[in-house]
Amino acid sequence: MKNPEHITLYDLEDSDSAGLPEVARKLRDALGGFATGVTIVTSLAPGGHWAGLTVNSFSSLSLDPPLILWCLTLESGLVDSFKPGEKFNLNILGKDQEELALKFARPSQDRFEDVAAHPDREGVPLLENCSGILNCVVEKTYPGGDHIIIVAKVVRYRETDKPPLLFHKGRFKTF
Ligand SMILES: Cc1cc2nc3c(=O)[nH]c(=O)nc-3n(C[C@H](O)[C@H](O)[C@H](O)COP(=O)(O)O)c2cc1C
Repeated sequence: MKNPEHITLYDLEDSDSAGLPEVARKLRDALGGFATGVTIVTSLAPGGHWAGLTVNSFSSLSLDPPLILWCLTLESGLVDSFKPGEKFNLNILGKDQEELALKFARPSQDRFEDVAAHPDREGVPLLENCSGILNCVVEKTYPGGDHIIIVAKVVRYRETDKPPLLFHKGRFKTF
C-alpha cells in the first residue's frame, strides 16, 4: 500500500501558493471531478418575465420534510427572485438537452426564445421533454461565500425514465 504522505495536496492555506491562478484552477478541476446531473431553474423575475439559468449545484436534502438545495452565484441578476416564499421549477435535463443547458448558461435577452416551455398553474415556466421536474417554494437562503444557498420545499414533482444529462470536468456526458 502507498504511503499517504506521497500524495501531493495543493495547500490553500499556504500563503505562498494560495493566491496563484494555478492553485485556483486546480481546485476548480478537483471540484469538477465530482460528476453531477444538470438542471435548469426557471422562475418569474420581478415584473413577471420568465427567467432561468443552468444549475448543477442541485442536491436532495431531506425527504421528510421534502427539501432540496442549490447554490446561486452572487453575480446573478436573479438573486432577488429567490427570497423565502418565491416559487420556482427545477427542470432536470435529459441526455438530449445539452443545447438547452448551454443556452441557459449564456447571456441572452430571451433564453426562452424557440424553447418548448409552458407556464405551470402559477405561471412559472416549465420546460418540456425533461427527465424530471420539481415544483418548489423557497424556504430559506443562507450565505455561502460567493454564492447563496437556496433551500426549498418540493410541493409537486414529475419523474420519468428518460436518461439524464451529466456534467463532469467541464464536459456534458451521458450514460
Ligand atoms: C453545467 C453548468 C452548471 C452551472 N451551475 C451553476 C450553479 O449551480 N449556480 C450558478 O449560480 N450558476 C451556475 N452555472 C452558471 C450559470 O448558468 C450562468 O452563470 C448564467 O449566466 C447565470 O444566469 P444569469 O446570467 O441570468 O444570472 C452553471 C453553468 C453550467 C454550464
